[in-house]
This record gives sequence, C-alpha cells and structure tokens, in this order.
Amino acid sequence: MKKFSVLFLRSLFVFILLKSVHIAPAQVLPGEVWRDNRGQQIQAHGGGILHWKGAYYWVGEDRTPSNDPEKRYVACYSTKDLVHWAFRGQILVLADPEHLGSHWVLERPKLFHNARTGKFVLYFHLDDARYKLARVGVAVSDRIDGSYAYVKSFRPLDQESRDIGQFIDDDGAAYLIFESRPTKGFFIARLSDDYMSVDKQISFIPAPLEGGALVHYDGLYYVLGSHMTGWRPNPNVYATAPSLSGPWREFKDIAPPEVNTYQGQSTMLLKIVGSKETSVIFMGDIWNPMALWDSRYLWMPVQIGNGELRLPSPNPWLLNVKIGSTTTLIHDVPSKDDRGHR
Ligand code: GAL
Repeated sequence: MKKFSVLFLRSLFVFILLKSVHIAPAQVLPGEVWRDNRGQQIQAHGGGILHWKGAYYWVGEDRTPSNDPEKRYVACYSTKDLVHWAFRGQILVLADPEHLGSHWVLERPKLFHNARTGKFVLYFHLDDARYKLARVGVAVSDRIDGSYAYVKSFRPLDQESRDIGQFIDDDGAAYLIFESRPTKGFFIARLSDDYMSVDKQISFIPAPLEGGALVHYDGLYYVLGSHMTGWRPNPNVYATAPSLSGPWREFKDIAPPEVNTYQGQSTMLLKIVGSKETSVIFMGDIWNPMALWDSRYLWMPVQIGNGELRLPSPNPWLLNVKIGSTTTLIHDVPSKDDRGHR
C-alpha cells in the first residue's frame, strides 16, 4: 500500500511538472497569429529564410502600424526549431532611396550570405507606388542581424523585376527568381561571385507567375508560383525539371484549384535536411491588404516526390529539425482564444 502511494505521488508530481513547463511539443499553426519571443506578432511578410551556422533567420516586410510611414522596414527573427522565433531587430530602416515618391514600395526581402566576402546581402523588390520602376534593391551588412546599408538598385539582366524569390542549391550556388511582365514569364538568374549583382540567366520560364519559389528535391527541381492577382489568392502551380536550366514540364495545381491555395500566396520553399528525412515546407502569405501588418503565414509541409508536389489542407503540425520529419495533427485545432504558436 505504501509502495502504491509513493508511486502515485511520484506520477502526480511528474504530471504537474510537465503541465507547468508546457512540455507539449511546439506546433506551427498555419493562418493563426504567430508571436515572437516578445509576444508580438511576427512581421516577416513576403519573407525569406537563411540557414546559417545551425540557426534559421527569417527576414521579411515589417508592416508594424507605428512605423514611420515615409520609411520601409525589414525585420529579422532567428530560431533553431522553426517554431519559436526571437526578434533580432529591424535590420533595414530605409528612407526613399531613389526619389520614388510617397507610397514607394519595398517588398519580399531575401537574405544571402556570401562566404567569399563574409558579407550578408539583402535583396528586395524596390518600386514606386504604381509598380513602374520594377527593380531590385541591394543592402549589405557585416552582421546577419544588421544594420544593413543600402547600396544600389538595378534591373536584373536588364529586365523588369517585381516579385523576387531566393534559391540556394545543394552546391551552395545562389540564385534569384524574378517575375518579368513584358516577357510574360520569370527568370532564374545566378548571383555574381560577390552576390552584389546578377550574373547570368539560367532559365526563362514562359509562364506569367509571381511569388516564385524553388526547391531541389531528390534529383529534381520544383518551381512554384502564383498567378498575378495582386493581394487576392489564386491557385498556385508548380512545374519540374531535371536541371535548373530546364526543360520545365507543364505547370500543375499544388492543391484543388477551388481552395485558392487555402488563401495563401507562395513565398518560398524551405528544405529541411535532417539526419533521417528531408522535408519541404511551403511558406506562403495570407495577405490582409487593409491591414498588412495582420497578414498571416501559411506554412505547411508539402507532399513531394517523383515529380509530384501537393500542398495539404492547413492543419497544425510539428517539426523535428534534427531528424527532418514533420507530423501533421488533424485534431488538435486551437480554440479562438488560444491563438499563436506554442
Ligand atoms: C502581389 C505580390 C505582392 C504585392 C502585391 C501588390 O501579387 O506578390 O508582393 O506586390 O501583389 O498588389
């Protein structure tokens, strides 16, 4: 009897301990408010991720309502588990750099690290209010979390460039994906040795898509993008090729077209290579054009392989970065009052 009481008390103690320290594994909750270590809503819209020295760095448009309306902001967050993000600062705070006038645009920042120069290079879409400039802007820093100094803007390959995407291949080579309206398609271009400019066209894909994203998985390249409907969601599509230079096969839907990519728009495909498995995460934005700061993130592991890519319907999921595995939890949907990531 005594033994039983001891065992019972010990189990009770362990139960209370686990409850009090929230041992439940961290979940990604697509479409919910995602808070950083300060409890503030993550501001990394249209963002990019750089994996550097064992941590992940997420940079994106910081649309905080209290920002100076004349300036544009890029925020940076870091993590090791892709769920709990620590705010690292507003790494770029930029006043209109090219006399673009009020309502000028800085969108979809993407971060690269150049091993040769040791610099961190930030690319972004730079434009005027009417999206006529169609250039990329470049800013650099010696430190990953800034502050970044604006260097220049240009049209990559002398083409109009609006939405940009980033891609780093398994051999470390860095590429920019950009949409070019006059050519009705998008380019994959290699960055120069120092990443300060765009060197070479690798592919032109004659499909008028934006929000371009790329991943190299199991010997195939998968490119993905959205149609051009501004902030409104549409059925995003993908195509594959054996090489970055093509030939690219026909584009196919990533989800049933009627669900409109579950209200999201593609931003990046993030590959997690673990000790046992490799997972690919679709990173998308659920835009709220009336309150851009409250735009949400649609991150889901995709089903990928043998030339097929499918975005499953959004549900909470878990990631084990070490192993590289993801688990989708169909039943554990949080209540309205429990928004955020645990
Ligand atoms: C979207 C684009 C966004 C933003 C928006 C403006 O198509 O992906 O980054 O430019 O249009 O309407």
